[in-house]
Amino acid sequence: MTTTAGDRIPALLLFGATGQVGLAVRAALGTSWRIVAPPRSEVSLDDPVRVASYVRASGADAVVNAAAYTRVDDAEQDVERVRLINAAAPAAMAAGCADLGARFIHLSTDYVFDGSGSLPYAPDAAPQPLNVYGRTKAMGEQLVLEALPDALVLRTAWVHSGHGTNFVATAVRRLVAEGVMRVVDDQVGTPTAASTIASVIGSALEIPSFSGIQHVTDAGVASWYDVAQTVADTLRSDGIRHDLTVVPVSSAEFPRPARRPAVSLLDTTGTRRALGWSPPFWRDGVVTSTRAWCAALSLSSRNHG
Ligand SMILES: NC(=O)c1ccc[n+]([C@@H]2O[C@H](COP(=O)([O-])OP(=O)(O)OC[C@H]3O[C@@H](n4cnc5c(N)ncnc54)[C@H](OP(=O)(O)O)[C@@H]3O)[C@@H](O)[C@H]2O)c1
Repeated sequence: MTTTAGDRIPALLLFGATGQVGLAVRAALGTSWRIVAPPRSEVSLDDPVRVASYVRASGADAVVNAAAYTRVDDAEQDVERVRLINAAAPAAMAAGCADLGARFIHLSTDYVFDGSGSLPYAPDAAPQPLNVYGRTKAMGEQLVLEALPDALVLRTAWVHSGHGTNFVATAVRRLVAEGVMRVVDDQVGTPTAASTIASVIGSALEIPSFSGIQHVTDAGVASWYDVAQTVADTLRSDGIRHDLTVVPVSSAEFPRPARRPAVSLLDTTGTRRALGWSPPFWRDGVVTSTRAWCAALSLSSRNHG
């Protein structure tokens, strides 16, 4: 939001501020917004009634929900709680925003799709989730837009950053410790830096007419194998470790509790046009996150041969 001298700094209520996207939003928007970031101990998404009253009492100008139950495999065994966090709580936020007249931006996922049909998925393609996480996120999208039709639901995919739990972090740790990693090469999508999402959220906050379901990812297509190879290339070129092997395997060799789409590509044309935005290439983001993890783990070319 553009402010001039003497303007009040607008207040942004941010749920999920300790997560990957939440941290990136704080970093990107902290100078133009007064960010209020309640920890889970102050307001938990397990309690949608409390969430709604918290939003109303906040008096915020805008609310961003970057909180979610994101442990896709665990979600299969925790259905009712996942529904509260991923569907009922966002719906409560939207209802609170409707009462306040506040802008609401909610994050969702490519896992609302099953990987079949026409690709990349347009924002209005019919969701067909394969797992509990995707089903509850699809439910959340619908409930949010029912409560507040002007809300913005931003779907994204394969998020990574230098914080929290993500595939780049796993690959850095595994490759540096063991030198070898087996990675599936038959699931493709678009690895997306949390910083990309935060920058689009920042632009979207300026344009209230940008609403409904929209897509944001970095540019390009990659398999998890490609991502691991990029991490390995970066570790080699930065002199962290040279003797690295990434072995391509099929998903059938890695059975997991939750089914995942084999292909999940989101069409970002609407977002690009509405915001005049052009997404960075996925590989650049993965290199940046790899380097952030090397710094966080104090890895340097002196530590490994
Ligand atoms: N990660 C991905 O690959 C991916 C892909 C597509 C879409 N998305 C979507 O993008 C958004 C952001 O994902 P992310 O990767 O940044 O998530 P993340 O790093 O897993 O962070 C999740 C955040 O949600 C908070 N949270 C979880 N349960 C909560 C509860 N019951 N009450 C209050 N806070 C709670 C966590 O707080 P604590 O620190 O207290 O745990 C944390 O701040 C989510 O909507 C997610 O569905 C993510």
